[in-house]
This record gives sequence, structure tokens and C-alpha cells, in this order.
Amino acid sequence: MRVAKIQIAALMFILILITSTSIALTHEKSASPQPADIEKRINALLARMTLEEKLGQLQQLDGEANGNYRPEHLDLVRKGLLGSTLNVRGARRVNELQRIAMTESRLKIPMLFAFDVIHGYRTIFPVPLGEASSWDAAAVERAASVAAAESAAAGVRWTFAPMVDIARDPRWGRIVEGSGEDPYLGAAMARARVHGFQGDDYSQPEKIVACAKHWVAYGAAEGGRDYNTTDVSENTLREIYFPPFKAAVDAGVGTFMSAFNDLDGVPASANPFTLSEVLRGEWKFDGFVVSDYESVKELIKHGIADTEAQAARAALTAGVDMEMVSRTYNQNAAQLLKEGKLSEAQINEAVRRILRIKFRLGLFEKPYADEALEKRVIASAENISAAREVAGRSLVLLKNEREALPLSKTVRSVAVIGPLADSQQDMIGSWNGDGRKEDAVTLLAGIKAKVSKSSAATKINYAKGCEINDDSTAGFADAVRAATDSDVAVLAVGESAEMSGEASSRAVLDLPGRQLDLVKAIKATGKPVIIVLMNGRPLTINWLAENADAILETWFAGTEGGNAIADALFGDVNPGGKLPLTFPRAVGQIPIYYNHKNTGRPPVDPKNKYSSKYLDMPVTPLYPFGYGLSYTQFRLSNLRLSQPRIRADERLTLSVEVENTGARAGDEVVQLYIHQTAASVTRPVKQLEGFERVALRPGERRRVSFTLGAKQLGFYNRRMRFVVEPGMFQVFVGTNSADERGLESRFEVFEK
Ligand code: NOJ
Repeated sequence: MRVAKIQIAALMFILILITSTSIALTHEKSASPQPADIEKRINALLARMTLEEKLGQLQQLDGEANGNYRPEHLDLVRKGLLGSTLNVRGARRVNELQRIAMTESRLKIPMLFAFDVIHGYRTIFPVPLGEASSWDAAAVERAASVAAAESAAAGVRWTFAPMVDIARDPRWGRIVEGSGEDPYLGAAMARARVHGFQGDDYSQPEKIVACAKHWVAYGAAEGGRDYNTTDVSENTLREIYFPPFKAAVDAGVGTFMSAFNDLDGVPASANPFTLSEVLRGEWKFDGFVVSDYESVKELIKHGIADTEAQAARAALTAGVDMEMVSRTYNQNAAQLLKEGKLSEAQINEAVRRILRIKFRLGLFEKPYADEALEKRVIASAENISAAREVAGRSLVLLKNEREALPLSKTVRSVAVIGPLADSQQDMIGSWNGDGRKEDAVTLLAGIKAKVSKSSAATKINYAKGCEINDDSTAGFADAVRAATDSDVAVLAVGESAEMSGEASSRAVLDLPGRQLDLVKAIKATGKPVIIVLMNGRPLTINWLAENADAILETWFAGTEGGNAIADALFGDVNPGGKLPLTFPRAVGQIPIYYNHKNTGRPPVDPKNKYSSKYLDMPVTPLYPFGYGLSYTQFRLSNLRLSQPRIRADERLTLSVEVENTGARAGDEVVQLYIHQTAASVTRPVKQLEGFERVALRPGERRRVSFTLGAKQLGFYNRRMRFVVEPGMFQVFVGTNSADERGLESRFEVFEK
């Protein structure tokens, strides 16, 4: 009897243990709201909402610059007249506002807090163009997932990222925010970022909802001048500008942002073709679209509306659900309804889409941020080390004459020179979220930390030399002295962080100020010159390309930038990044991109007067798309195709061997390009349709495979139908888009 009692007690104990662990587990991973359930709950809410409350959900307002909310917003939230803010951040502040929504407003609809978490929240990763240079989707996803965890901990569950605009014009400052010029690479990066931010289910506490922006063709701004008009054929939209957005939709992105630009005569924030026909109609996107900052009101300046009421009507009717900052919906919708210029159904639909995302985020169940968690997660040691690793993977070695790099750890002395060598602010780039310059490791600090760990007692001679962008040469003498006193000179030159990003277009892409003269003065000392470039766009650096001993493109590498660059300079990291865009020789070559058309008169023979070329400059770029060196060497060989011919609905496998033939471990990015020789519309001379970054030890070889099917071989014909047409395809596999040692083959696609 007694034994039985003990057994029962033990059983009970085990049972309790099991249930409590499962409770603990479910607590960590919150159950996500189910779709059918969500639609029912939206209907129930909509039925109870007044028109004012509905319009409140369509409104987003800006907080204060320091991240606080505006006092006047409290009352709006209380009355249910404000559904979202941007820039308000930090668990405590967000909770204060949220508490009003959840306890004092009539319907208790949670607020949605948004922020530009572009390449990190507090722990800053390389600028997006830098991340894309890694050609490593896993690294980019990891960066976004760290950003999401920090952002969510700070109460911000919605980021205005990723920016997936294709850009072929480096004058455009916002090129820094994207993944470069190529739709395939851009789509891969879009997918990685959306997944990093959202995971499989963004109701999880460490996840946030992403926003694909700027829909669409914002990167095609004429002359590279920000906010400028764009005029893009539907074919180019579908082939070049749409794919990263489509990839974001396929990855489940929750929101889109409509762009500032006028697109083919219809501003993107009032464009029914892109917002409704394509996005909702063709792609079945069921999230919501937010306008860009006052882009609804700007419809008046664009000249498609005379009044704010007309602007509101145009944007809402086209498919913009939430209005950022301007208040044209709020102030005019009631009147527009009365006049029959808007319908209740249209407003309900916009509200429905917004509520859907709030439900999917689990905000109704878990509206508050956890203030204790915020302290633990933000800028954790783990996040900082992730930033260093990703930064290391984003570096691109553009030149390395006579193995000038890596530097020996026993070098006696290094001159560290240049206006960017010790700048914390620039290291974290533009759009740096809640990043703090005090956290940033500069190049100088990174080099000092690196040499302090070796036994060689390396001397560091630092001199700024000049400012980034002024005319003074007063610091040159010190810089020359530092170089003369050292074995090697490392020069950090380029742009300030604010010279790229929004509203930061440039018409001249040379090194600004007197930086080139500084480099020349150092070169004259005869010491090896190692250039560390920091910049948000390709620069015209012909002199450097010709005369520097080594060039390392580092973009703006983030909080851990200085450490990551020092890792590469001293060989602890072997650079393996590749350019995600073309470097022109001169601004006059722009637009210049690798996947151009052949023309009827391609410049194959430079002596032929009547070919498509310049009189004063080659048509080739300074550095091609996909370019980047390593401290080791690689060889591609044995390109194999599974079949010489396939039917249009079949797939073909292609594989190639890559071997590390040098003496160091390193990464190579194997790139697959295709070209259809004749089709019903002209095709690019080359288009990227596969890549893989492979890490190989010295002497190691690996076979890399790619699959080509309709998705890769098809294109939009004149009727805008996506088709695979029979014909000959050339295949090119290389380590950049113009690799002279690349391998070629061909295959045929025949009629089904
Ligand atoms: C304007 C920018 O174009 C957009 O990218 C950004 O998300 C919003 N401002 C909000 O800051």
C-alpha cells in the first residue's frame, strides 16, 4: 500500500514536471494566431469601428528625433486616432504609448511601432551594399536576425527594410542602402533579409515584420538625382526592378513602402498598375502598403492632384493603405466618402490589411516589450561578434600587387593615415538605426588592438593628413613624416557616411577634397601604399587602381568595422567578397552595368569607327560586377552540363570544379551567367543565374552545381508574358562577370 502511494506520488511529480516544462516551452515560443481566426477577428473589430477609428489605423506619425513620442500623440492614441508611429523606440517609451492604446482607447487596438532598422538596430553591421558584397545569403540573414532581435527587444516590431531597389547609377546616394545592380543577387539578398527579420513566423518575440521598399524603380532616378523622375519600360521593370520585390513577397514579407518617384508619368504612391495590378493582383500580396514620408501629400507637387483631398483619393484608390506623416486621409476621407469619391469598402480594405499584420505580429496578445530583455539583448557580446564576422565577409580586395597584403604581424611599424582612419561616426555609415558612434571600432583602434596581441611591439604612426572634404593640405607634412618613419602606409580614404544615403547624390565620384593629393604625397615616400576604401558607392579611382599597392574596399563596415578590417589586413581573415555593382572609370560612362544589351554594333573591335563606344575612354569598367581578389588563388575546371539539349519545360544541371591552388585558406564565389543568343526580344549579354561562395583549404577542390530551369531561362516577351523560348544558350562560369579565365559552354532549348 505504502509502496503504491510512493509510486503514485512519484508519478504525479513526473507529470507535474512534464507539464511545467511544456508550459515553460510554450511560454517561450508563443502560439501564433491562425489565419482563419485572424480574418474573423478583423471582421469583428471592423464591425465595431467608427470611421474616425478606421482612419486612425491608416495614420502613421513621426515621434521625436531622440526616439521619444510626441506629447500630442498621447491624446490621439487614447481616442483611437493613431495606429502607428515611426522612430519611437526603446521598451519603456514604447510601452508607455502602448499602455494607453491597450487600456485607455475604446477598442484596445495595439500600436505598431516602426523604425528604419537598415543594417542593425544598436549593433551596426556593414551598410547593405557592403553586406551584399559578401555574396553570402546566410551571413546577410544572420545580420538581419540580430537586428530583428535587438529591435524587437526595444519594442520596435516593424522595420522599414529591406530596401531592395536595384540601382545602376552610383551618383544616386541611396545605392548604399541596396544590394547593387543585379536582380538575381538582389533577389537573393531580399530573401535573406526578409527571412532574417521575420523568420518563419514574425509573431515570435525576437522577430519583426519587414517592409520591401521603395516600390518601385526609385533607383532609376534620372541623372542619379534623388527623388527624380523615372521612366522605365514595363519590360525593364519586370526584368530588372521587380525581381527582388517578388522575392520578398515569396519570402512572406508583411509590408511594402510606396516610393517617392514619378514612374512613367504616374507617381509610385498613386500607381494602380504597380500597387494593385501587379502587387495584389499578380503576386497576391495580402499585407499592407505604407506610403513613404509624406509621399501622399507630395502628389500635389508631382502634379497629379491640386488638393490634399485629391491626393488622398489617388493614393488610397491606387492601393496605399497607411499614410506616413502627412494627414490627407485623416482629414479628407469623410468628405470624400460623402461625395462618393471613396467607398467605405475601400477604407475597410486598407484597415483590414493593417489589422492583419498587427494580428500576425501577435500584438493583440503580446503588445508590450520586455524591458529586462532589452538590456540583455542589445549590443550583447554575441551580437557584436556577429557584426565582426559579417563585416569580415563583406570586404572586397580590389588590388594586391606583389602580395602587399596581408601585412606581417611582425612588421616593425605601420603608418595609419587618412581622414577616415579614426572616425567612429563614419564607420557606422548612414541609416545607422540606434547605433552609437561611441561603440564603433575605428580602423586605427582595430589595427592597434591587432598588433598589441603580437609580440613584435609594432609601432603605429597615426596622422589624419586632411579632412574628407575640404581644401586644406596643412596635415600633409605630418602624414608624410608618419609614412617615412614606417615600413608601410595604410590609408583610409573615401567618403563621409553622409555623402551617401538619402538626398546625397553626387555628380562627381572622385575622392572628395584633397584625399587623392594626400595619397600621392604618401606614394612619393616610396613606402608601400595600402588603400582602405570607405564609401557608400563606387568611386572613380583610376589613379589608385593604377598606383596603390593594394586596395581593400570596406564600404562602411559597422560597429566592429575596425576590428574586421584589421583582421583582413593582417591575414586573420582572407577577403572573399565580390562587388555587387560595376565601378566606372568616369561619371560619363554611367549608367554602366554588366548585364547590358549587345546593340547592333557592339564595340568588339575598338578600331571600328561605327561601333557603340566612346572616343575618349574604353567602354569597359574599372572593376566589373562580381569582381574581388583573395590572398590565395583559385582555378575553375571541368565544367559539365547534364544534357546538351533540354525541352523548354525541363531542367538542366551544370557543375564545375573549383580548386584552391594557393597556400592559404580562402573563399571563392563561383558565378554562373547565361545568355540566349536569339529570342523574340533582345537579351542581356550576360545575366547572373547562380552563385555560391565556397570556402576551401589550400589544395582543396570541390564541385559546385547549379540548376537551370524555366525560372532562370525565361523572360518577359513583348506581350509581357513570361516565356521560355527555344534557342541556343551560352553559359559562362567565372569568378567575376568579366573573368578572362572563366569557362564557357552552350546548350540548346527545344520546343516542348
Ligand atoms: C524616407 C525614406 O525614403 C524611407 O526609406 C524611410 O523608411 C522613411 N523616410 C522613414 O524614415
